[in-house]
Amino acid sequence: MNNGIYWLALLVAPVLAGASGGAANANGVPSEAAQGRQIYEQDCAACHGWQGEGAANWKMPDEKGEMPAPPHDETGHTWRHSDAMLFKMIAEGWRHPFNKSDRLTMPAFGESLTDQEIAAVIEYLKTLWTDKQREYQATESQ
Ligand code: HEC
Repeated sequence: MNNGIYWLALLVAPVLAGASGGAANANGVPSEAAQGRQIYEQDCAACHGWQGEGAANWKMPDEKGEMPAPPHDETGHTWRHSDAMLFKMIAEGWRHPFNKSDRLTMPAFGESLTDQEIAAVIEYLKTLWTDKQREYQATESQ
């Protein structure tokens, strides 16, 4: 190998590794949001969408009179809820009072996820919002 390129590769490799999304800290432990993303894809994406885009027609009740899963990205309203409220909705489940049924259309995850895992999913949801929404939600959470 040409020596110049060899040294260049040595210099660039750590920079590329560092730039690969902040997914892991220096010890290779996944950051909380990265962990939350894995949980989201496993437990939430089927209803709320792979990019948090929500179900189609989420603003309209379905044929059973139930509200479909809303988006968690900047087009939804998840960012309007404080950390404590989001935690409660995910742990205990949730049903908007508009719904005609009394079952929890948003299932409870308090049995299958630990408190730390729920907190990690919430950290991941925050990565789907705009700066302004994050600021608003941080104030709501105080
Ligand atoms: C079986 C489908 C389903 C799954 C799986 C699911 N949800 Fe939901 N979720 C819903 C529905 C439907 C609603 C809306 C309930 C309503 O408004 O009546 C909802 C609402 C929510 C809300 C309130 C949103 C808001 O903007 O008010 C949050 C937060 C939420 N879900 C988070 C999650 C997370 C995190 C997971 C994974 C751990 C998850 N959901 C998994 C169906 C689901």
